[in-house]
Amino acid sequence: MNILIVGSGGREHALAWKCAQSPRVDKIYCAPGNAGIAKIAELAAIGPDRFEDLADFAKSHDIGLTIVGMDDPLVGGIVDVFEERGLRVFGPRKSAAILEGSKAFSKALMKKYQIPTAAFETFTDLEEAKSWLRSRASFPVVLKASGLALGKGVLICEDLESALRGADEIMGEKKFGQAGDEMVIEEFLTGREVSVLTFVDGTHIREMSSAQDYKRAGDGDTGLNTGGMGNISPNPYYTEEVQRICREKIFQPTVDAMKAEGREFKGVIFFGLMLTEDGPKVLEYNCRFGDPEAQVVLPRMENDLIDVLEACIDGTLDQVDLRFRPDSCVCVVLASDGYPVSYEKGKVIRGLEAFDKETDRMCFHAGTAFRDGEIVTNGGRVLGITALGKNLEDARAKAYEAAGWADFEGKYFRRDIAL
Ligand code: AMP
Ligand code: GLY
Repeated sequence: MNILIVGSGGREHALAWKCAQSPRVDKIYCAPGNAGIAKIAELAAIGPDRFEDLADFAKSHDIGLTIVGMDDPLVGGIVDVFEERGLRVFGPRKSAAILEGSKAFSKALMKKYQIPTAAFETFTDLEEAKSWLRSRASFPVVLKASGLALGKGVLICEDLESALRGADEIMGEKKFGQAGDEMVIEEFLTGREVSVLTFVDGTHIREMSSAQDYKRAGDGDTGLNTGGMGNISPNPYYTEEVQRICREKIFQPTVDAMKAEGREFKGVIFFGLMLTEDGPKVLEYNCRFGDPEAQVVLPRMENDLIDVLEACIDGTLDQVDLRFRPDSCVCVVLASDGYPVSYEKGKVIRGLEAFDKETDRMCFHAGTAFRDGEIVTNGGRVLGITALGKNLEDARAKAYEAAGWADFEGKYFRRDIAL
């Protein structure tokens, strides 16, 4: 069958790369894609917010399955539009994607169904939020814009003054746009963070191997939060005991809760977890593969991706035996100097051909484009240098060696991924 992938980042490159390994796939299209994805897929210049145009494209190109990588179109209801047009599509409907699209919703869901998460309050009025902060908060405190904010709408505030300032930014100045119409104020948790991506078919849930994100821009977890500067899989802190507790208290209960609310979830639920002294707690839900979690999890997956995605759509995930290679995988993101604040684009990227003959080292493109026959930088996160190895140390050494192969002006990356 022909496949259409919606998105343009490293995650979508990893999805396209995995689809290309399926004997069931004839041709892959990606909208809008990037210069790396163009090597394995035909690009269509259609933005991810143009649902009807994307559906027209799927109809005219005989697409058997559309895979939506990004959160924005999912939360905006792209799956509903495709389904109404009789097209097969992987991802949650709008009514279920709210699990990521509204933190106010997901926190209320967890409270109602007793799924462990940080204690919280939700506000739609700035003055009420401030008066709660003055009289009730203990510090540090966490402020979250309820809506989508490119992973940047979370502020950890050490004292009352910075919390009041943060509330002004989110709800008053609308620094994160409409995402700040509603705000969640949350108890600060400490512990190790784990990402667990799962496949869900409405009723059943199957976990992929665990991962660990490196969210801060600088070494030693310093600097601003980013979309993710690197990732490793498996996550060494995700023990069998932790997994057992997550299965019992978090994973299946979330799927059941969504079903009970009439919001049957089909697609990927990405659980962002904190392993606290009181056990694992949910930091956030995402309704899609992580970026760069996909880059370290998909290379370890042994199943044909298309089979698994179709089982999610058809409600037959209970018949799927999901398998992962015992290897470890490490992804180091090469970013543009200045990311996540401001950075230049259009810098020529050299050295990419070094990856052509590699089998266990991949260069997933995140922000790249073509210009005059050359490949140039086109985003904050540019490349995800990814390596499989027999353990984390081995994968780390291979990834960092390859991080030196590709070069562009202003390249920066963290040196402590998987350390
Ligand atoms: P989120 O987008 O909700 O996952 O938040 C982004 C990051 O902020 C998380 O990966 C954590 O590092 C941090 N964070 C979020 N919520 C909390 C919390 N309640 N306590 C401590 N850190 C948090
Ligand atoms: N890497 C975190 C995310 O995709 O949300």
